[in-house]
Amino acid sequence: MDDSLAERSRPERELLQIEADRGLAQRVAAGRVPRRRTPTPESEAPAAPFGSLPPWSPAAPAEERPMSDQTQQHTKPGADPWAVRYEGYDPDDEGRRESLCTVGNGYLATRGAAAESVADGIHYPGTYGAGIYNRLEDRIDDRVVENESLVNLPNWLSTSFRIEGGPWFDLAAVEILDYQQKLDLRRAVLTRRFRVRDEAGHTTAIIERRLVSMDDKHACALEVTYVPEDWSGRLEIRSVLDGTVTNALVERYRALSGDHLDLLRTAELSPDSVLLEMVTNQSGIRVAMAARIEVWGNGYRVGTERHLVEEGEVVGYQLALEARQSVPVTLEKIVTVFTSRDQAVSEPAAEAATWLPRLSRFDDLLERHVLVWAHLWERFHLDLADDGPVTQILRLHLLHLLQSVSPNSVDLDVGVPARGLHGEAYRGHIFWDELFIFPVLNLRLPLLTRSLLRYRYRRLPEARVAAHQAGYAGAMFPWQSGSDGREENQRLHLNPISGRWLPDPTLRQRHVGIAIAYNVWQYYQVTGDREFLVHYGAEMLLEIARFWASIASYDRARGRYVIRGVMGPDEFHTGYPGHEQDGIDNNAYTNVMASWVLRKGLETLRLLPAQERHELVERLALRREELQRWEEVARRLYVPFHDGVISQFEGYEDLEEFDWEGYRHKYADIQRLDRILEAENDSVNRYKVSKQADALMLFYLLSADELRELLGHLGYRLAPEDIPRTIHYYLDRTSHGSTLSAVVHGWVLARSERLRALEFVGQALESDVADLQGGTTREGIHLASMAGSVDLLQRCFSGLELRQDQLHLTPFWPESLGTMEFTIRYREHPLTVRVRGSCAEVLAGPGRQRPIEVVCRGQVAEVAPGARVSFPL
Ligand code: BGC
Repeated sequence: MDDSLAERSRPERELLQIEADRGLAQRVAAGRVPRRRTPTPESEAPAAPFGSLPPWSPAAPAEERPMSDQTQQHTKPGADPWAVRYEGYDPDDEGRRESLCTVGNGYLATRGAAAESVADGIHYPGTYGAGIYNRLEDRIDDRVVENESLVNLPNWLSTSFRIEGGPWFDLAAVEILDYQQKLDLRRAVLTRRFRVRDEAGHTTAIIERRLVSMDDKHACALEVTYVPEDWSGRLEIRSVLDGTVTNALVERYRALSGDHLDLLRTAELSPDSVLLEMVTNQSGIRVAMAARIEVWGNGYRVGTERHLVEEGEVVGYQLALEARQSVPVTLEKIVTVFTSRDQAVSEPAAEAATWLPRLSRFDDLLERHVLVWAHLWERFHLDLADDGPVTQILRLHLLHLLQSVSPNSVDLDVGVPARGLHGEAYRGHIFWDELFIFPVLNLRLPLLTRSLLRYRYRRLPEARVAAHQAGYAGAMFPWQSGSDGREENQRLHLNPISGRWLPDPTLRQRHVGIAIAYNVWQYYQVTGDREFLVHYGAEMLLEIARFWASIASYDRARGRYVIRGVMGPDEFHTGYPGHEQDGIDNNAYTNVMASWVLRKGLETLRLLPAQERHELVERLALRREELQRWEEVARRLYVPFHDGVISQFEGYEDLEEFDWEGYRHKYADIQRLDRILEAENDSVNRYKVSKQADALMLFYLLSADELRELLGHLGYRLAPEDIPRTIHYYLDRTSHGSTLSAVVHGWVLARSERLRALEFVGQALESDVADLQGGTTREGIHLASMAGSVDLLQRCFSGLELRQDQLHLTPFWPESLGTMEFTIRYREHPLTVRVRGSCAEVLAGPGRQRPIEVVCRGQVAEVAPGARVSFPL
């Protein structure tokens, strides 16, 4: 807001702000939001830093980089790095905006759907509570399938109005004079401002603000100000808690059931507040919401006619008042949300009712909410010299990360859903995506990683049973995880192109256990949290190691151990041609990392204090012979190679080459070749094509030295030239059908081919803001790609590594991009890292921690609290 407005009263300020915005809107030429763009085929992608994002490098002039229509609104030079704005209303784009304008606090999140909207194909009001899952059964052909979903909770926003008894407000039925939507990234507040004229000629300006409090995780607030511009008369406002919602966002799932909530009760709590209590119909989780609904004008409560609305699963008020021309009136709705999964509660409805009157007004909630966000932004501080579009997108990514998991999630027994708490794609399940997310958290809020890892620990018993039932030892974690840790992978999935329901064998991605072990190890490396290792981490790591030793079988002919019937991260290859469901053998990523896990398992045992080691070995009944087998398997796992490159899996070289050019001509978008080929009665399993990085994951997770050592231990030699050869081999054969792919490719190319790497960085940055997958962002954000893009810039380009109790920096940040500055926590030191070109500077905050060692290009410096160390070129 303009500073000159700050002195005035709030309604007055708002009126003036509307005037100011009106001018602004006209100046911005009220552009309609452009349509979705077709992603640029990789071969034609502009060779420019950050793909289609604006130039940072003087070496690359702007004209060379056509900016996609879709991203202009986010990336125009000079864009406010602390806000995302949308000008104009575009029904076709509403779903994407709703996902990107979600507000949340790690306990619950609410999509940026218009407060007056219902699910109607354009809008989709969705509110999701962390860990609130429910299972439903369906019959498809002759099979009964059961799916567990993150439940769409009652719509707490639902607020509409009408004038002089006319029709209830509907954006589609009025003339829209101005329309703006702004997500304030610093404050996590969503604002809609618009002016409309109805059929009767009433012109009304509306300002809507909402927040989901980061300070009090049970509190949400909505405020809607109405300004009758050219009329006076009867204004009716209907504001309710709407429990008629279902899960219906994802078109592919619509043939399956989505009705998860049953009504328990509605009630009026006081003359201005109501309660709605519902229960999930299988998991029995009770969800209570209470709302206080008041109207304010000029700093006073406005008297209204008030009618209680109590219609089945809907409860709230219909209010009526005499509105006067140019006099703003404000509806304020304060909402509390509790569930039976909460701690420190008696029962959710009682808590929702008790806490509602304890909450004050919107602006008071806002003040505390902003304070907590300010603290979070200090921890997640990030400044790039551009201070514009790229910084803006990175902050948007960090905001959505923290809205999905935050300090509010710490006590909740929840994991990180791949699509955030922002939509219903993948039904809110938890995959291996944590691998891309935890590095950002480890370095800033390790307490949160610890809690998210404990989500896995609590499901270790289920993973043990899964391994046992499959005939293995140890723990086999599910590919898709939800409430209790059983496998939630769908049994049948719909190919939307062919319309066929097909078996889904992707649960063969046993590598999810590798990700969990890797995450445990990394968390320990960053924090040195031995308590965690002793009580939880070691047990998970050892049980996962045990699983890999038991799934590996000895191949006498080769004199090596092999792992058969699995899938690598590339989901296209579910089996060999003709055996589509059976998995593939010796996925290089899996085998090399299985060896890594086995060795880390042994190392962990050595790290444990004697007594704890003894206890754990006894509890897990780990025998000496078993540990010997781990050593043996870790040394003799088979890794396939062909043509001087690491083979994605055994037999990959025998597959057919794919006609990339032909298919690029035939289809506008060939990211999902699995679906395209199945619809053509062909199979992607026949070809050398990958959906996403698979073998290249090795270069993403391990440094070249680590990988060389690991392969050396296995008896293979990786020559320096084999690395770029392997990278290029797969680069030419990957469709990037997962947003994770750009993150990994950006990372692995960063050192050798910076320009090409920056293109992938650009793609990772644009994955959601430009909806590069053409329609998936509306179903929920891609959290791993969001967090991964931040990590890619900060950790990869600064060369930040934590090993041997030292913090290593090897920056190769493009000099022309100026200084990149970010904050991290390492061994309890709050550190600010500045990187420019190959130079680095580290500033330590005050404290009493023991000094740490920082290494940059061979120079070692001890950094004590309060110190500042520079590493010039
Ligand atoms: C990717 C997986 C990922 C999942 C959830 C899929 O498209 O292939 O690697 O775990 O999405 O994000």
